[in-house]
Amino acid sequence: MQYKKIKDILNGQLTGNIITCAGWVRTRRDSKAGFSFIELNDGSCLKNLQIITDSQTEYNKNSIKDITTGSAVWVTGMCEKSPGQGQACEIKAQKIFLLGSAGSDYPLQKKNHTLEFLREITHLRTRTNTFSSIARIRNLLAFEIHQYFQNKGFLYLQTPIITASDCEGAGAMFRVSSLPFGSDYSVQNDFFGQEAFLTVSGQLEAETWACALGQVYTFGPAFRAENSNTPRHLAEFWMLEPEMAFYELEDNMNLAEDLVKTLCRAVLAGAPDEIAFFTERYDKTLFESLNKISMPFCRISYTEAINILEKADENFEFKPGWGTELHTEHEKYLTAHTAGPVIVFDFPASVKPFYMRCSEDGKTVRAMDVLLPRIGEIIGGSQREERLEILLARMQECGINTEHYRWYTDLRRYGTVPHSGFGLGFERLVQFITGMQNIRDVIPFPRHPGRAGF
Ligand code: 4AD
Ligand code: MG
Repeated sequence: MQYKKIKDILNGQLTGNIITCAGWVRTRRDSKAGFSFIELNDGSCLKNLQIITDSQTEYNKNSIKDITTGSAVWVTGMCEKSPGQGQACEIKAQKIFLLGSAGSDYPLQKKNHTLEFLREITHLRTRTNTFSSIARIRNLLAFEIHQYFQNKGFLYLQTPIITASDCEGAGAMFRVSSLPFGSDYSVQNDFFGQEAFLTVSGQLEAETWACALGQVYTFGPAFRAENSNTPRHLAEFWMLEPEMAFYELEDNMNLAEDLVKTLCRAVLAGAPDEIAFFTERYDKTLFESLNKISMPFCRISYTEAINILEKADENFEFKPGWGTELHTEHEKYLTAHTAGPVIVFDFPASVKPFYMRCSEDGKTVRAMDVLLPRIGEIIGGSQREERLEILLARMQECGINTEHYRWYTDLRRYGTVPHSGFGLGFERLVQFITGMQNIRDVIPFPRHPGRAGF
């Protein structure tokens, strides 16, 4: 069936034509004069289209009374310039076809349900303004990410979801098995004949392509079994991971900064109604902070960051000190202190994984984290250790079986090159761009401790 998207109808170009549109009814209001006004939404934009019916309108069955909140209809009628405020045009219905009714038990009867309630009806929440706006922004960002890297000549690579390697070395992995639970389990009898897990990152595999093709990126799901019930952690999240041969840490930081700026600009240009909505509804500072992203990001070493934190007149839950990890509270303090995004680089080797390049000082590695206001860490990356002997020593120090990672160290045995990369948490980016407080609200079907529904 040919039908027009509400987005295209509302931009006014179809005015004066008889058109067909389709969608879900948000509300219906009946006037005493015998007219009914239906607010229709099809998810193509934030705004609803007003449908006006009168006694001339033809129904396939039943009557206007069956066109209730939540029901699905298609409508044919004249697209007219609207006399009312707030909309460019409206449809004077000639025919209304009820595709699917919705009874009075439809959960989205009222406006303004709490986000907690909407998490319980994940399958229906996309019909609200908040979640349809998030859907459109996720889509726009994914498209812009591909466009950004394709324009730069990066190759898109699909890394495996099932893997035998633990990239981050944190051990927070989900095991993959095809055998039933039980005491007679043995790895030898299991599907792969070796331990297998869901990937925490595609980086190690991406390095193999970068060391053959130059610049590549992966964009896909990553899984972490860390038991962190926080508003910024998911058990399944999406990660963008560019990996670049011949890039040093400085080039890596430049790319990360330019990428974040480009994506924010793209959303401001491509989804202005959604950004205005999130600013009005969820975070009054949102529009301003997205605009401010065009300023240069402040770059400070980890050592400088610790100095700032130690001097801070703040009661941190975790006391900062050289050699400790940066926690969310520290990250938020640093972005508030510098009034904008911050890149922290050169972390102690002891708080970072085995693959990062060791510095001359013997204590730090060439790591970088990009911190954003309100969110904290959005990107983690590094220059990679390309020197075989140093990498092997570092792996041993971290208790990693070097034979198991022979394929990875081979990249250093044969034609090694300086290279770098980073991982951007897609949901954290969507949080920053929408102002949503809880990461569970920016992914279609959140997975977190105690929950894998839908
Ligand atoms: O800092 P992380 O752990 O870095 C890596 O995995 C590297 N292998 C990336 C690379 O260099 N190619 O994770 C990268 C980003 C974090 O900065 C964060 O934004 C996001 O991934 N992230 C999570 N997002 C949601 N839920 C979680 N549990 C996350 N863990 C990390
Ligand atoms: Mg990190």
